[in-house]
Amino acid sequence: MTGSSAADDKATAPGSSGPSPRHVAIIMDGNGRWAASRGLPRSAGHKEGTAAARRAVEAARDLGLKYLTLYSFSTENWRRPASEIRDLMSLLRQFIGDELPTLKREGVRVTIVGDKKSLEPEIKLLVGRAEKETAANSAFFLQIAFNYGGRDEIVRAARQLATDAAAGRIKPGAIDEAMFSQSLDTSAIPDPDLVIRTSGEKRISNFLLWQAAYAEYVFLDVLWPDFDAAHFARALEDYHARERRFGGVGAAP
Ligand code: IPE
Ligand code: IPE
Ligand code: MG
Repeated sequence: MTGSSAADDKATAPGSSGPSPRHVAIIMDGNGRWAASRGLPRSAGHKEGTAAARRAVEAARDLGLKYLTLYSFSTENWRRPASEIRDLMSLLRQFIGDELPTLKREGVRVTIVGDKKSLEPEIKLLVGRAEKETAANSAFFLQIAFNYGGRDEIVRAARQLATDAAAGRIKPGAIDEAMFSQSLDTSAIPDPDLVIRTSGEKRISNFLLWQAAYAEYVFLDVLWPDFDAAHFARALEDYHARERRFGGVGAAP
C-alpha cells in the first residue's frame, strides 16, 4: 500500500482503537536542552540524540512496527548558527555511513524525504546510495525527514502537478487526493498512525502536514537524547487507549 489516506487505511478502521500502529513518526526534539542542562555544548546533545535515534529504530522493530519516520532536520533549521548546521549535517553523514551495512543486512529500506536538491553533494551521494542499496528491502521501512518541511513538500508536489498539467501529461480535473499523495516525497509508505514529539513542546513544526491529517499525537516530556524503548512502549499504550473515528461516530457505547 502506498501513500494512503486515512479513509482507506485498513489497519486503522473507523471506530476501532484495536490495531497496532503501522507507521509512527517522531519529532526528535530536546537535544539542545539536554546538553544545556549538563553544561555541555548543543553539539553534545545532537551526538547523544543520534544514539537515541539508533535505539528508536531498534525499539520500533521490537514493538512490531513496519514504518518509522524520524524528523532530523527541518527546512526552518537553516536559521540555526552555521556551526550547528555543520554538526547536524555531519551527524547525518555519520549515521547513514555507520548504520547502512546493518540496515542493509537486516532488510531495512531507507528513504530520505525533504528537499534533497539543496543538500551538499557529499550528503546527496550518500543519501542516494542508501536509498539505492536498500531499495529492494521490505522487512522494515526507515524514513528520515531531512531538510524537510511539510509546506515545502506540498508546494513542490503542486509545482510538479502544475508542470505535468501544463505539458498535457495530466488533466487538472484528474488531480485528486490519491494523486496528490502520490506526488509527495512520502509516496512509498502509508500515512502515520501516530506522531510522537519529545521535549514537552506541543506543536508540529511543519512536520507531515498532509500525511498526519488523521494521526494521533503523543507529546512526551522526555528530552530526545533520553528517549528509550520504555518511552516508545508508553506512547503506543497511549495510542491504544484512543478511539480513532476519522470523522465517523465511533463505536457504540
Ligand atoms: C532537536 O533538538 C534536533 C533538531 C531540531 C535538529 P533541538 O536542537 O531542537 O533541541 P532544543 O529544542 O533546542 O532543546
Ligand atoms: C522540530 O524541532 C524539527 C526537528 C525535530 C528536526 P525544532 O526544535 O526545530 O522546532 P521548533 O523550532 O521548536 O518549533
Ligand atoms: Mg527544538
